Amino acid sequence: MKLLKFNDNDQMHAIGLGTWKSEPGEVKKAVKHALEIGYRHIDCAAVYGNEKEVGEALKETFDKGIIKRNEVFITSKLWNNAHRQEDVKPALEQTLKDLQLDYLDLYLMHWPVAFKSGLEGFPQSDDDFLSLEEVPLKETWEAMVNLKKEKLVKHVGVSNFSQKKLSQLMSETDFVPEMNQIELHPYLHQEELVKFCHDNAILITAFSPLGSQDRTEEMKAENEPTLLENEVIKSIAEKHEVSPAQVLIRFHLERQVATIPKSTNESRIEENFKSAEVELDGEDMQKLKDLDNHYRYVNGKFFETSDGKYSNVYDE
Ligand code: A2P
Repeated sequence: MKLLKFNDNDQMHAIGLGTWKSEPGEVKKAVKHALEIGYRHIDCAAVYGNEKEVGEALKETFDKGIIKRNEVFITSKLWNNAHRQEDVKPALEQTLKDLQLDYLDLYLMHWPVAFKSGLEGFPQSDDDFLSLEEVPLKETWEAMVNLKKEKLVKHVGVSNFSQKKLSQLMSETDFVPEMNQIELHPYLHQEELVKFCHDNAILITAFSPLGSQDRTEEMKAENEPTLLENEVIKSIAEKHEVSPAQVLIRFHLERQVATIPKSTNESRIEENFKSAEVELDGEDMQKLKDLDNHYRYVNGKFFETSDGKYSNVYDE
């Protein structure tokens, strides 16, 4: 498996199992199966609502002696309702309790967006949001860096951060995020942001590598393009006698980026893991590059407020 290295030489598998949209009732089996067949990187988040079950899977796998805790890289994310400095550690503690762990490998600020402290569910009105003047990203970030100092998390990073937000955070604080988890796939290359991160030793994880077709209907735009059915991707897959999903996953490894395909289906979990063995050549990568039309599946519009507190979350 391809590995990505942090500044302290700690390493993570470039292919991890995604758990966004994995239903309670399915995710436990998926995580156990993934760990049994060789996955060593699991991507979680408090807001996915399934960390308790992921925790059961981890505990059962460790108890059976299949792997040890230090052999798997576990990421989770701080939800938007815990951005105030005093809310950050309790949020991590809840995640650790749910996952039945005493440390995380990586903790990410899920979005550069703050909700009222402790808000349950999704905001119903503008009043449910706190502006970045009220709770600056710096405040949240410094509280997260303290978790690293306390050794409750090995690495800290962000998610859905633009170059502008990263630059601002880097100019205001002493510790550079170690990871930016962003949407990336052949329709959304984000060359500049990827280069900026790599130039600043910020690792990248690509979410929605397969186009996240299992999002809820409210999250989907009309007539969305379907990555898995794209003719160019299908032809590259046929050329190498692999599946379109494997081309889409391998694409990130060629870019020195990690990725977290989600599946709760055992054979697809295995298929996705085997993408590490697929070989794409320069011509394939050029064809995939030509597909870039800056299409976002997760367009961030759900975080726009009518009072101007939040608009254009990706700064583009
Ligand atoms: P399932 O969980 O039934 O396998 P993303 O990782 O971009 O969010 O995409 C997840 C979606 O892609 C889910 O609907 C998942 O369904 C599906 N999926 C995962 N792996 C594959 C695969 N190898 N081939 C086709 N669809 C896949």
